[in-house]
Amino acid sequence: MATNITWHPGLTRKERNEFRKQKGFTIWFTGLSASGKSTIATALEQHLLHLGLAAYRLDGDNVRFGLNKDLGFSEKDRNENIRRIGEVAKLFADSSTIAITSFISPYKADRQSARDLHAASQSAEDEAIPFIEVYVQIAVEDAEKRDPKGLYKKARAGVIPEFTGISAPYDEPENPEILIKSVETPVEQAVAQITKYLQDKGLINV
Ligand code: ADX
Repeated sequence: MATNITWHPGLTRKERNEFRKQKGFTIWFTGLSASGKSTIATALEQHLLHLGLAAYRLDGDNVRFGLNKDLGFSEKDRNENIRRIGEVAKLFADSSTIAITSFISPYKADRQSARDLHAASQSAEDEAIPFIEVYVQIAVEDAEKRDPKGLYKKARAGVIPEFTGISAPYDEPENPEILIKSVETPVEQAVAQITKYLQDKGLINV
């Protein structure tokens, strides 16, 4: 724990958003491995960039090669994985960028902490950063049928321990801002659904 540190107030979030002419916020995808979250998140990032908005995607497998390469898949490591991602997403969003995160984030408490972090303000003038949870829903059997990386097969064989949906839990979101039923929703339709939500809430103006 660091002591003797003070928070330096600078521009307010509102001022930064005005300079950048866009609001920063976080779109938090959650769902089983092979649910399609990364595919939808990637298409959404591209779509928002095409609209002229700054957007940046933090992705499960990618972040684990760098920032979180010291973490595995125990409950404790997943807690820390999601805690760090929540902090990083908040920094991107605070810089008036649309942060898009795509992690299984299986524990309800961890997703709630990331949400609470976005709501917490360091200064009285700063409003909460919007946090939009997108649940990409799929039955384990359907994810297992897809199995693009052969991981479910390995998990069933006991080669990969603590595999989400097989030998580790996934807490289903009860009240996500957006629900996408993976099997029956084409990627373009999922992107359109999310974009419409953002427009309806006044988070984007294009
Ligand atoms: S999380 O649970 O901590 O949110 P994260 O999204 O970062 O997981 O990483 C999930 C990805 O790691 C999966 O898509 C899969 O490719 C890979 N993976 C490797 N081992 C496991 C495991 N035991 N459980 C789930 N995913 C795993």
